[in-house]
Amino acid sequence: MVRQPQPEDRFSFGLWTVGWTGADPFGIASRPALDPWEYAEKLAEIGAWGITFHDNDVFAFDADEATKQDRLGRLKAAADASGLTIEMVTTNTFSHPVFKDGGLTSNDRSVRRFGLRKVLGAVDIAAEMGATTFVMWGGREGAEYDGSKDLYSALDRYKEGLDTVASYIKDKGYDLRIALEPKPNEPRGDIFLPTVGHALALIAELEHGDIVGVNPETGHEQMANLNYTHQLAQALWSDKLFHIDLNGQRGLKYDQDLVFGHGDLLSAFFTVDLLENGFVGRPDAPRFVGPKHFDYKPSRTEHLTGVWESAKACMSTYLLLAEKAKQFRADQRVTEALEYSGVTSLATPTLDAGESLADFLATDDGFDPEKAAERDYGFVRLNQLALEHLIG
Ligand code: GCO
Ligand code: MN
Ligand code: MN
Repeated sequence: MVRQPQPEDRFSFGLWTVGWTGADPFGIASRPALDPWEYAEKLAEIGAWGITFHDNDVFAFDADEATKQDRLGRLKAAADASGLTIEMVTTNTFSHPVFKDGGLTSNDRSVRRFGLRKVLGAVDIAAEMGATTFVMWGGREGAEYDGSKDLYSALDRYKEGLDTVASYIKDKGYDLRIALEPKPNEPRGDIFLPTVGHALALIAELEHGDIVGVNPETGHEQMANLNYTHQLAQALWSDKLFHIDLNGQRGLKYDQDLVFGHGDLLSAFFTVDLLENGFVGRPDAPRFVGPKHFDYKPSRTEHLTGVWESAKACMSTYLLLAEKAKQFRADQRVTEALEYSGVTSLATPTLDAGESLADFLATDDGFDPEKAAERDYGFVRLNQLALEHLIG
């Protein structure tokens, strides 16, 4: 039996996840909508530590200032009363048709100016709510047709938008960092910043990139046929893993947003192993210290009771995998297999400390490629040990 999730586990959920009523491109809602504070209270009850939201998960796109403040106040009061942290806030720049060609990269300059103001408004809300991460998912930043965008200028406008938001955060002295969320497609045919690697490359070109990192989502990387754990690893290596969106995805299809672990389970095991235990040979390497945030959708077939069951399933799957990953790392057979496979020796630099290039080139290691080629790596046995821990 898996233990109950505790606040110390720092599990958090987007209000739009449990709040999804089942409306999709093919059908209307299959469940009633609750008020944001009702979702928050229920999440606290089942063991969540935090919540996150888009501006328009709490108030309507066209809400007046008084309504906005009233609804935000009610949500904050409910969160405080139930001990929930509002850890991340984000902006909806995708639902309203004004954003049909994007917010920061729309071909229409007046839309870009409106989009930027909306994002800055959400930054103020994030700071007011005490959030420390501001996610930017540019779902509508992209195109269906290659001829419909000046792609060079689109990247310029993306950079301009991000730098403007980051400098605003700095000017205001907010304790906030931006996390870009990559996705290859859906809703646009091709979204800009399709993968973690693309986002990291853009961040490297920013003027205020020091407070900009990434928010990789399991399914999004898998929709690009990439390995989610590898993407987390590279973000950590770049010291840019600011936030995560955990969920499940089965293969190359639409964004399924399944419960965490309900997609590629072995991949989920190694994701949790990295998050919980760090890099196997590098205790000195950066570790992810942020909340375990779920961005999934309770399937449209489920009643409200199923919504809460699915949220609990995300947390218990994570806890089960964390337990298994701990046992995997503690297993003496695994330690030996890791050593046999050379996994731990990858941490040793290829050149000696202080070895000059001239010395290196002049040195004969007595290396015999034929002999080295005979080496067995034993990766299959190592993987089988992981699998046995996972299902054992
Ligand atoms: C999606 C995205 C979004 C974002 C959210 C927060 O595919 O719809 O994952 O759910 O995570 O907009 O930025
Ligand atoms: Mn998604
Ligand atoms: Mn997401």
